[in-house]
Amino acid sequence: MKKECVLVCGGAGYIGSHTCVELIQAGYDVVVVDNFSNSEPSAIDHVRRITGAEIPLIEADCCDREAFRKVFEKYEFNSAIHFAASKAVGESVQKPMLYYRNNLTSLMNLIDLMHEFNRPNLVFSSSCTVYGEPKKQPVTEQTPRQEATSPYGNTKKISEDILRDAMKAYTDMKTIALRYFNPIGAHPSALIGELPRGVPQNLVPYVTQTAAGIRECLSIFGDDYPTPDGSCIRDYIDVVDLAKAHVAAINRMTQGKSEANFEVFNIGTGRGVSVLELANKFQQVNHLKLNYKIAPRREGDIIAIWADPTRANTVLGWKAERTLDETLESAWNWEKHLRGIE
Ligand code: UD1
Repeated sequence: MKKECVLVCGGAGYIGSHTCVELIQAGYDVVVVDNFSNSEPSAIDHVRRITGAEIPLIEADCCDREAFRKVFEKYEFNSAIHFAASKAVGESVQKPMLYYRNNLTSLMNLIDLMHEFNRPNLVFSSSCTVYGEPKKQPVTEQTPRQEATSPYGNTKKISEDILRDAMKAYTDMKTIALRYFNPIGAHPSALIGELPRGVPQNLVPYVTQTAAGIRECLSIFGDDYPTPDGSCIRDYIDVVDLAKAHVAAINRMTQGKSEANFEVFNIGTGRGVSVLELANKFQQVNHLKLNYKIAPRREGDIIAIWADPTRANTVLGWKAERTLDETLESAWNWEKHLRGIE
């Protein structure tokens, strides 16, 4: 029997590459499109090595509609996942037009082409950033969305709105938007993981680079927040668990289980962890000393947010499985593999 195929836009990136592995291991074929603006083609070589699968890899920008159209003309697939977007919060403040153009054009091209070519199922990478600073924890999918705090966050919110409206008109299509909390960690093989360019902006890559001696000292941004230990609280979700949520979303749509043609799920663990807790756990799990100091608050940071993942657990049939210990161990193994540390 011919396998179902999934188009993975931005499949060479951090979450995309892990999702390719899980899709293939769940029995799907994948086709990857990437412009390598924040990724390396070698990630797909590593996915091929982990899975033993053949993976067509097309270098194209999803904003270039004619280049993107050729992928639809050449390959047969019923489902697509949209990871092809820029994600640096700070950069989005400096270059708002780049973010609006990239993130929205690529999505609109994808929706148009899927509609034109009768490819029905779409999974969209949304973010807990759409909830802003929530008044109540944990957040459910019913928690009101708030004004975005950055152009990046606004592209996620606008993208959800575009999809909701498009699905009202295109009733033969379906979309699942996954609202990710904070993805961290790496594949247990240590062959794929996050590859930040330049100085990492996110916590865990900064932690692992500090442990590897590439950065001198981790700054903990603020210890005077109204939280138990004064540092910010997030819901850190293992990237392999997150990748599996995409497989669950594709399964749901291909098996005709969707209850509406636009659905939203929180993808988190349900557990809030503070920055200080995370830094301490990283040291404990990996038996090392992390150089860190308390620094002033970072502008624009949310104090606390964690997920109520009940809807994903019960309706999507997905649950976070890896423990924070395993995840932090995998993050360090990946950094060691990259740097050739024994
Ligand atoms: C941000 C975005 C999120 C996006 C994610 C990935 C918002 C509100 N959040 O998450 O949507 O998906 O980036 O790019 O827009 N920290 C330190 N020291 C560091 C780095 C971080 O203390 O060197 C702290 C931060 O203050 C924060 C926590 O660690 O409290 C997590 O930060 P980070 O990894 O950057 O993710 P978010 O800002 O939560």
